Amino acid sequence: MKKVLTLFIVFLLLLSLLIWFSLPKITSYYTQLTKTRVGLNLDLQPEAQKKARFVGSQKCKKCHEENYHDWKGSMHSKMIQNIKADSSVVVADFSKLPDDADFTLAEAVYTIGSKFKQRYMIPATINGKEDFRLGNYQWNSQTEKWQHFKPYKYWYKDSYPHDNKEFPTSNTCDGCHFTGFMSTGERVEPAIACESCHGPGSEHSKDPDNPVFKASLSDPIRTNEVCFQCHMRNRDKRIETQNLNAKKMWMNAKDYPDGYEPGKPLISYKLPAPFALGKETKEFWANGAAKKNRTQGNEYIHDRMYKHGITCINCHDPHKLTNTAQKPEGNDACIKCHSFSSIIGPHQDTLEQHTHHKAESKGSLCTECHMPKTAKHTGKSPLTVRSHLFDFTYPAQTKAYGMPPETNACYACHKDKSLDDLQDNLKEWGKLEWEKLELPPIGFK
Ligand code: HEC
Ligand code: HEC
Ligand code: HEC
Ligand code: HEC
Ligand code: HEC
Ligand code: HEC
Ligand code: HEC
Ligand code: HEC
Repeated sequence: MKKVLTLFIVFLLLLSLLIWFSLPKITSYYTQLTKTRVGLNLDLQPEAQKKARFVGSQKCKKCHEENYHDWKGSMHSKMIQNIKADSSVVVADFSKLPDDADFTLAEAVYTIGSKFKQRYMIPATINGKEDFRLGNYQWNSQTEKWQHFKPYKYWYKDSYPHDNKEFPTSNTCDGCHFTGFMSTGERVEPAIACESCHGPGSEHSKDPDNPVFKASLSDPIRTNEVCFQCHMRNRDKRIETQNLNAKKMWMNAKDYPDGYEPGKPLISYKLPAPFALGKETKEFWANGAAKKNRTQGNEYIHDRMYKHGITCINCHDPHKLTNTAQKPEGNDACIKCHSFSSIIGPHQDTLEQHTHHKAESKGSLCTECHMPKTAKHTGKSPLTVRSHLFDFTYPAQTKAYGMPPETNACYACHKDKSLDDLQDNLKEWGKLEWEKLELPPIGFK
């Protein structure tokens, strides 16, 4: 009798294991995806944090060694670097700086960026205030060449004089690059440090029982906001709330959500760059894919994964910034949640049936087809910025939307074929839905 019972229990255990492993992988995200949605207007900043000040990452390091270490190794910690403290942060070749440059290395105090391009901050008094200006040349790290840089040539071009020497970084850059600047106007710490995402930490550092904001605790739609504050192109919110335009905001137009702190409702501070399907702008192709960098948020809000509650940090570790799958390469980043014939797709039984490429081919990499490189870091850079739209863009859509063929995933690898040929391939594979044979429907001129 005892033996039978033991066997029965073992059988039950095996059965539940079997059921567990045959569940779609997305099941483990059930709690996240079904969390209560609190809406975009609710203030989620902990009460105890409202009177807190910014204290800098050194304070946090004491108690959070590991998070500090992860963050220190990421690009966020390297966005703004002090040349006077360590001259090796300069990646440009200053011996080749063109003669008509309006700055020298000796004048520059901070570097901005390094990976794709590097720009230089020079102390200046602008509008009667101690501020910084930008050199009129930038270093393109991808082409390894100096390039002209005119920061005023942007949506706020009517707000500032067309002269780098009169163009302040305080209103147009520093909110996203210095910790604390966005809400206090003080450059508390160079680069994107702990408190950019967790809010001011003086009270928590004194007594850890005082909470700081942790973005993943509530509504997953709201989790994204700590990233959207910077990774989303915007306009000055006052264009909407006070009916102002660039000209009326002379020397004062802000290109970041002025006053925002993590947990507060970002929508009260940020006006996203405008986009309408079918209309190409300076920032987006007509299908909504990025033409420029730092547009991840603008693209992602159109995606079904966003609407269903998948967040930036489901794919990116917020401290290391690396992808959160077990393996950094290959399809693991997506196969973590997606599986073949699963409820969220792909709706084929195997990789090859889904991609129509050999399993080990580059043409079977999820990101190559679903995140094509559509954007550049500067006019003279190669296409390197991967789209965060995720939905597949057909060759016929690329054509109908008037996008350059290189931005199409298929064409990027098959430059010997035309968009029409590639569309035919997809038709032969049976990939087209009825309406995909037509021109893009909504808003198309
Ligand atoms: C004196 C030590 C100490 C310092 C300094 C400190 N923390 Fe903490 N922190 C803690 C402890 C202990 C916890 C765990 C508290 C708990 O689980 O309730 C914690 C928890 C956290 C959490 C998780 C909160 C949650 O709701 O899960 C975050 C985020 C955090 N700290 C960020 C920071 C940041 C940012 C700083 C610097 C501004 C900082 N901490 C400074 C001790 C410290
Ligand atoms: C780019 C935004 C960002 C920055 C910068 C950042 N954090 Fe976080 N941090 C997050 C998010 C988002 C979470 C929630 C992660 C989760 O729940 O998976 C988190 C979680 C934490 C936690 C809770 C434990 C954990 O690991 O999940 C601690 C503690 C913490 N961060 C401390 C720090 C400290 C200290 C720094 C600076 C050295 C820092 N963070 C910088 C976004 C950030
Ligand atoms: C305060 C502004 C700010 C916030 C908040 C912020 N970022 Fe960033 N992020 C940047 C900047 C600026 C860079 C470029 C850093 C560089 O190249 O030095 C960057 C770079 C990155 C990169 C590329 C890293 C690499 O190695 O090239 C990833 C991925 C990223 N951020 C993800 C996130 C995620 C996810 C969040 C939210 C949890 C977030 N960021 C929040 C400003 C921000
Ligand atoms: C709304 C926030 C925001 C504002 C304002 C902003 N940036 Fe950035 N910047 C980012 C983010 C986020 C990234 C990284 C993501 C990406 O490039 O896709 C970035 C990337 C960069 C890079 C490339 C970094 C690298 O390692 O190659 C440079 C250089 C840069 N910004 C300079 C500037 C300058 C100069 C200004 C002001 C004229 C400015 N940014 C204004 C958010 C901002
Ligand atoms: C060769 C290009 C290509 C590759 C590689 C590719 N896909 Fe797709 N994917 C498509 C096309 C085409 C569609 C159909 C789009 C549509 O229905 O509008 C699609 C649709 C999907 C869908 C929507 C649901 C469905 O089944 O129709 C999901 C989810 C998806 N792919 C996930 C993935 C994942 C995960 C990977 C990597 C394992 C991947 N794809 C690799 C081309 C590709
Ligand atoms: C479904 C997964 C997924 C989500 C969600 C996601 N990313 Fe990414 N992201 C990726 C992958 C994959 C890459 C490419 C990494 C590579 O090329 O090594 C990437 C690249 C990036 C980069 C590097 C710049 C570039 O040119 O590609 C930045 C910055 C970034 N993501 C920010 C974000 C932000 C901010 C969010 C939320 C708005 C977000 N990501 C949401 C998967 C994701
Ligand atoms: C954390 C889980 C998770 C990860 C990681 C993930 N996805 Fe998804 N994905 C989802 C969910 C949930 C949906 C929504 C399914 C639906 O609406 O039918 C989805 C839907 C999609 C769709 C179809 C809807 C759309 O908006 O286009 C595509 C394509 C897709 N994912 C591609 C990818 C790719 C490519 C990656 C890797 C870079 C990836 N996913 C990583 C959870 C995830
Ligand atoms: C990342 C690169 C890459 C992408 C993206 C890609 N392919 Fe391919 N494709 C290849 C390679 C490599 C081969 C060679 C055979 C193989 O590996 O399966 C190939 C083979 C093919 C073939 C069969 C041989 C031929 O040239 O006629 C067709 C048809 C094809 N691809 C069409 C497409 C279409 C349509 C898309 C977009 C849905 C696409 N490919 C996306 C790399 C790619």
